[in-house]
Parts: sequence; structure tokens; C-alpha cells
Amino acid sequence: MHHFHYAGPDLHCESVDLAAVAKLYGTPTYVYSATTIADNYRRLQQGLAGLDVQLCYAAKANSNLAVLKHLSNLGAAFDLVSGGELRRVLAAGGNVRQSVFAGVGKTEAEIKLALQNEIFAFHVESEPEMARINHVAGTLGVKAPISIRVNPDVDAKTHAKVTTGKSDNKFGIPLKYAAAAYEAAAKYPNLAIKGVQMHIGSQLTSIEPFVEAVQKLAPLAADLKARFGISYFSIGGGMGIIYRDALASGQAAWWESQPAETRPLTPESYGAALKPLLQPLGLKILLEHGRFLVGNAGVLLARVEHLKRGAGKNFLIVDAAMNDLVRPAMYDSYHEIVPLHRDSSRRALVADVVGPICESGDCFAKDRQLQEVGEGELIAFMSAGAYGHVMASRYNSRPLAAEVLVQGSSFELVNTRETFEHMIAGERVPAFLK
Ligand code: LLP
Repeated sequence: MHHFHYAGPDLHCESVDLAAVAKLYGTPTYVYSATTIADNYRRLQQGLAGLDVQLCYAAKANSNLAVLKHLSNLGAAFDLVSGGELRRVLAAGGNVRQSVFAGVGKTEAEIKLALQNEIFAFHVESEPEMARINHVAGTLGVKAPISIRVNPDVDAKTHAKVTTGKSDNKFGIPLKYAAAAYEAAAKYPNLAIKGVQMHIGSQLTSIEPFVEAVQKLAPLAADLKARFGISYFSIGGGMGIIYRDALASGQAAWWESQPAETRPLTPESYGAALKPLLQPLGLKILLEHGRFLVGNAGVLLARVEHLKRGAGKNFLIVDAAMNDLVRPAMYDSYHEIVPLHRDSSRRALVADVVGPICESGDCFAKDRQLQEVGEGELIAFMSAGAYGHVMASRYNSRPLAAEVLVQGSSFELVNTRETFEHMIAGERVPAFLK
């Protein structure tokens, strides 16, 4: 469910006409719905009601300061993977003391920054990393709170590039070595064992892999509680969202029309399946969802440059490109594309929707059926709130897109479109070339 819908012929985010946003701030521009984020947050919380849950929003999905502040106001802490993300949470006034720090290659400087800001726990991914955290904590004269990321060797049945819980992925310590890793951790003078963590992948669309992984780790969690007095079990993030019927899935009627056997994963079904497995542990449960909270809360607005009719192929050339939204080029992912102004008298068009970047990979969709749109008209890429702007680059010297946050009938620019001067601000021509 989300708050993007047509009011008459015009696509709105909540009560805001998206064409008005494009007119004011230009394109390409990301637009996020604050109410959708809040609804997603509350649904996830309610889905797990009865458990002692702390939501640690995976900031990597969308780390715009306004999004972080909004989630922080709702009660979220954060799942962080870099010093940069930690500093963003500080800048947004978020709660680092309830946040966790993950990632396979935390630097000494990042560990120090996290300790100085009293991070809730580090999610440790290897034994050398444990030694490093112990060392940095020692230099600061503190004990570092840690949990081990355990790799349950479960197939998340998602895209290979976002699968993380198989034994051939770089993440975590294999389940069979986990007990020994905790023994090793207990011997370090500057480490304090706090919990256990897992994360098996992203954009999971069925509950079975979550269930399998929790079932695999639950005995270990119980054991660690008895031996080391751990207080929490983080079950990671990974809940998938609707990409194919993105617009329709904003309406309750769409969900009701889905046959029970193929109904997509919801916070309610996720909670119902996992609660009975988690409740007996008597541990605090951390959740690290990113995409579920913000993915369907964002769109990318773009303008049509040309409709190029080729030999047996049409190309809709738009002013957004793979540098703005890399997911289709990187993961072959599907983003629904809709016109900002719907006109049923228009013919249908089948076209490849492409950006202006000089490589064939700069393609958002192949042979996509759309309402015919022409030069200057506006379109939206749906479900672009997660892993959109955060993965943007300046390839082809294209400035980073603007970002706007909507709430009700209010909207504000939350990230100015990058200027050329800013883009080159750090670059220098060395003296020997002058
Ligand atoms: N926790 C850990 C340890 C993670 O590595 C991730 C995501 C999450 C939580 C959040 O997962 P989510 O709930 O958002 O699925 N760029 C890719 C997704 C990469 C996900 C990386 N890790 C994409 O655009 O699909």
C-alpha cells in the first residue's frame, strides 16, 4: 500500500500533483511520500506486536536526511554500514545508541566513531574483525558491544547480487563455526557480547527462507542467551515489495484480488509466521528492513526527450538515466513506468525506455507497453524509493538528481539538484600540467 494514485487524469503523491513538483524543481527528481513511510513503519510494528521489537531501518536503502529524520521521529533506530551513514544519522538527530553497525570491512576510524557515539552493537562478520574491534575499544578504554552475524546457509531465492545468506556469500560466520566464534569473542578483554544477527538477502517475496533461517538460528540464540546472557536477536531485513503492479498495489482492492496461494509477502504474514518462532526465545528482536519501509514510498520523475521510431523498434528517450536509477541496468530489475497525465484517448506504445547515457545498458525497460507520450511529457518510475538516489552516480557528468518529500498537501525540496560547480568542486589540475 502506498499513496501514489491518479486524482482525475493526474498522478498524485498524497495530495500533491506530481506535475507541479516537476514544474517547480525540474527532472529527474525523486519524490517520496512521508505518509507511506509512516504507514509501512506502523504496519511492520503491528505485524510483530507482542514481541519486544526495535526497528533498525537499513539506512543504505535511502539515507536522505529528511527520510532518516522522519523514521527517527517514528521511533526507528538504524542499521548502518559506514561512517558516512553514521554521520548522516547524527546530522538528522537520530538515535545512534539504539543503532547497529554492520559490514564486512569496517575501518578502524569507523569503529572509533561508532564507539565514541555509543553504538548499540557492532555486527561482526569475521574473526579478524573481532580482533580489530577489540583493539580499537582498548585504545579508547571502553568495551565494544558486539554480536556475530551468523550465516545460516539458506537460499533466499532472490537475485544473485542481493543474496547474502548462502555459504558462498562473503557475509557472516557459518552456523557451524558460530559457537566457536562466540567462545573466541568471550576471551577478548574489550568486547561485550550482546546478541546474534542474521540477514539472508534482499527483495524476498516468500516467507519460507525467513522461516528456515530463523528455525536454523533459534537454538543457537537460546544457547547464547543461556551462556552469554545475550539480549537480542536481529533477524535482518529483506522483505520484498511489489514492483510489477506497483501503482495498483497502492489500493486495498488490489491486495484483496490476489489469490491466497500467490499473495505477496506482507508485514502481517511475515509477523504471523515468525512470531511463534521468536516468542519462546524471550529476546528483544531487531529488524533491519530498508526496502520495505521506503521502496514503494518513492518515484523518480522524468521528462520525455524524444520518441525515436527505429526499424521495428521504438525508443522512448527520457532525461533520467542509469546514473540516476541503476537498478534496471545492474539487476535487470523491473520498475513500472506510468505517465503523469493519463489520457485514455491516446494509443498504446511499445518501446524501450532509455536514458541519454552513451551505452546500451542505459535502458530502463525493454518492449514496454505504455500510453503514447511525446516530447516534454512527464513519466514516473514507480517503486524507486529504495536503492534509487543512494546508488546514483555522476556518470557522463550528469549531476545528482533532486529529492522532494511530500506529506499531505505539503512538499519540500529535501535535496537540491547538484550544480556543475559542486560536481567539480574537489577536482584540480595539477601544477605539472599547467
Ligand atoms: N541488513 C543487512 C545486513 C543488509 O545487508 C541489508 C541490505 C539490509 C539489512 C536491508 O535489506 P532490505 O530490507 O532493504 O532488503 N541494492 C540492492 C539491494 C542491496 C541490499 C543490501 N543489503 C537493490 O537495489 O535491490
